[in-house]
Amino acid sequence: MDWVIGRAGAFGIDDARIHREFFSADVDVSGEAFEVVAERSGVTVSVGAEDTIAKALARAGVEVEVKCEEGVCGTCVTDVLDGEIDHRDHFLTADEREDGDQMCVCCSRARGKRLVLDL
Ligand code: FES
Repeated sequence: MDWVIGRAGAFGIDDARIHREFFSADVDVSGEAFEVVAERSGVTVSVGAEDTIAKALARAGVEVEVKCEEGVCGTCVTDVLDGEIDHRDHFLTADEREDGDQMCVCCSRARGKRLVLDL
């Protein structure tokens, strides 16, 4: 997929027009601990060094639908209200990542100490 995406980009095809379909992927969910606020639910959770946002939220009773849990399907894409995202998925396009207003909560993390999600 990386080769196909790279070649399409080299031919000038806009990134938003390149369809991606991964079936599995290795994903590194490790990193520094941070805090996630589920704004609409009024819940704040800590996401540990080897934890994921989706799992931390589920333990606190905030359900997020997930399927692949490897950042390839897009089922868990969630709007981000505040905070800087460390994208680890293979689903969002470069433009979507740059916008910084949505993320895959099954695998992506925070670059800082806090993220606020529209959940
Ligand atoms: S559950 Fe598939 S990308 Fe998150």
